[in-house]
Amino acid sequence: MTWVEKNFARHLDEQPGFDEFVHEYKSAIKEVDTKLEILSEDFAVRHDYNPIHHIVKRLKTPVSIEEKLHRLECDVTIPSARENIYDIAGVRVVCNFVEDVYDVAKMLTSQNDIKVISEKDYIKNPKPNGYRSLHLLIKVPVFLLDGHIDIPVEVQLRTVAMDFWASLEHQLRYKKANHITATTDIELKACAEVSANLDKRMQKIFNELYKGGEYRENYWDV
Ligand code: GTP
Ligand code: MG
Repeated sequence: MTWVEKNFARHLDEQPGFDEFVHEYKSAIKEVDTKLEILSEDFAVRHDYNPIHHIVKRLKTPVSIEEKLHRLECDVTIPSARENIYDIAGVRVVCNFVEDVYDVAKMLTSQNDIKVISEKDYIKNPKPNGYRSLHLLIKVPVFLLDGHIDIPVEVQLRTVAMDFWASLEHQLRYKKANHITATTDIELKACAEVSANLDKRMQKIFNELYKGGEYRENYWDV
């Protein structure tokens, strides 16, 4: 392979620095995962309750990074992927209750090695289709042989109920894209609202049992 072929290879995994690139983003996922695990265990030790139901981690595949770069009309190179794509490393934190979502987000973002780049609160402001989740874009330092590098990680926090809706909606939208009508959209949105109402009722029960009825009203829209 000539220098030109190697440096301008069409596919990311054929370009120089690919292994280092993957290693850095994988390590960033591990860092965030460990932070969440430690917080969750500390919570369990102190309060006899675990706010995190489960965590899902994913590294965007080279093909899907390439597709997104094409979509954004950016160069398909590793430096361009680093600069333009912020969800190469993704961590989804599925919590039991809505207040847990905000508590876990606060516990994570208040750590002083974490930089918050942006926050999108689709719980307070659900998407028009009914989608709810709290999205954080953070940067986490990864320590390597020659120093540290801040790597972006997209953290999605949601309740079990929001996760149930989002995964089914995603499946239906992708697998049956051509069959989704305006009526289906309305019905899916109605399901999201039923689900949000369920979250609200479950939170009330939890708070009566655990917090003497204390209740945060501010983020409910149903
Ligand atoms: P992307 O380019 O897709 O990352 O869009 P964005 O940067 O504007 O981010 P956004 O906050 O809209 O959402 C990014 C991620 O959230 C998606 O990759 C999904 O995992 C999830 N998401 C956002 N909207 C929806 C939705 O309507 N339905 C479902 N099921 N998931 C969604
Ligand atoms: Mg994204």
